[in-house]
Amino acid sequence: MTRLEMLPVQPLLTRDYEIRRTRIHEELRNRYGPVAPVDLLGTPVWLVLGFEESLTVLRDDGQWKKSMSYWPSYMEGRIPADWPLLPALECDMMVFFDDTRHRKARAAFESAVKPFQDLSLPHARQLRNMITKYADELITLLSADGGRSGTADLCGQYTRPLPLMVTTRLLGFSDSLGDQVTMDVWRVLDAGPDAPASLERLMAALHGLVLAKQASPGDDIPSYMLASDPSASTEELAWALYLVLCTSTDMVGALLSNTIVEILVGSTGARASLSAGMVGEAVNRAALANPPLHNFTFRFPVAPTRLGRFVIAAGDPVMVSPAAAHADPLFGQAETAEAIVSSRAHLAWGAGPHQCPSRDLASSIVAIGVQRLFKRFTDVQLMLPSDQLPWRISPLVSGLRSLPVRYILSDVPPQNVPSAPKASETPGAASRPPSEPARSAFRRMLASLRRRPD
Ligand code: HEM
Repeated sequence: MTRLEMLPVQPLLTRDYEIRRTRIHEELRNRYGPVAPVDLLGTPVWLVLGFEESLTVLRDDGQWKKSMSYWPSYMEGRIPADWPLLPALECDMMVFFDDTRHRKARAAFESAVKPFQDLSLPHARQLRNMITKYADELITLLSADGGRSGTADLCGQYTRPLPLMVTTRLLGFSDSLGDQVTMDVWRVLDAGPDAPASLERLMAALHGLVLAKQASPGDDIPSYMLASDPSASTEELAWALYLVLCTSTDMVGALLSNTIVEILVGSTGARASLSAGMVGEAVNRAALANPPLHNFTFRFPVAPTRLGRFVIAAGDPVMVSPAAAHADPLFGQAETAEAIVSSRAHLAWGAGPHQCPSRDLASSIVAIGVQRLFKRFTDVQLMLPSDQLPWRISPLVSGLRSLPVRYILSDVPPQNVPSAPKASETPGAASRPPSEPARSAFRRMLASLRRRPD
């Protein structure tokens, strides 16, 4: 068995990690094979680079556990209390649950998200109309000052606010979520120095939300979760909503901007897919080229396990990297025939029992965002060479800080979308008409976005 602590390990996150990521993975693969020891912000971990090995780990939740209680170095106090990734990992939420606790929490979440995800239900159809309207409002606003052409920071003015608006609706906040929320999520997931304070702010807001929904349920995910598991405590629900907040703001925003970049300058055929009217395929190709969650949080083997060229000790932290697995020369040969013919075989949504339960919802938010943008603009050009785009340096998320573009507006007007369904069509606890965030707050939030890139 190999002692991880004894191996000479190189830091994974160099200052140019996002730009050199493919090269770094290639060097690790050449040196160690499909699984490599690396230094992650001062702590040694195993990085899974192989596609087949990634599937092995992700699919077997009997052997590979997610709870931090399986990590002896952490449990025995050998991980420094100020290790920057701790705020992103010390979270009592489903993605870190195992066994019965995981299955129960997942079932409650699935039933809460279903009304917004299952297109046979009126809420899901109405949400899509709402997203289209939000996207059009943002595009109208970002182009309001100029004539038919202009410049914009698509991150600040489109790919961050659009998911925030959708999240406000999904979580049933009475006021619009502001950009500060996304920045706090970034600080936690990017393991920044302000991560603990940011997490505290986010959790305080979510505790308040749970209390508000306990007092007065609405047609939103928190209220459906309360209805689905009335025994859940305020604390448990706040953590569950924290996961929704992180994913539906940051992950969705990252996939939206990564897809726009892939369409503009990528080499995976995303632009051709979009031109052929296959926006879902364009999103898939972007997720394959640059998964928003480029490294997953750790799994720990319950017993010594051979993986790649090593025998991993029980309780060693193992980080699956979909970004590396997608670049594995064996990707496409390892799995079923689907992997060879379909870009949907990617790992951007995970695989196995923890696979993202909201992938249809998330990909449809991104697809609508992409579709409206490229309908309303006849031309969009990056203002920077693609190798100078400002990527975040994050152990978990691959996303841009800003996306400066020049655009030319088309003659396509904002889309007229049908109005909300009747109250009688709303499901379960939602016997009242679907609510939008308070109009004035919504306008204030939109107005605050009228900043242009320098
Ligand atoms: C582009 C956007 C998204 C991406 C790329 C994404 C990706 C993922 C991935 C890779 C996992 C599995 C992580 C692992 O196995 O360690 C996951 C889990 C999860 N995602 Fe998503 N996600 C996205 C959006 C969303 C949204 C919008 C929601 C909620 C509305 C959501 C809710 C969840 C939940 C609750 C889990 C935990 C599932 C479990 O542990 O069983 N995700 N997501």
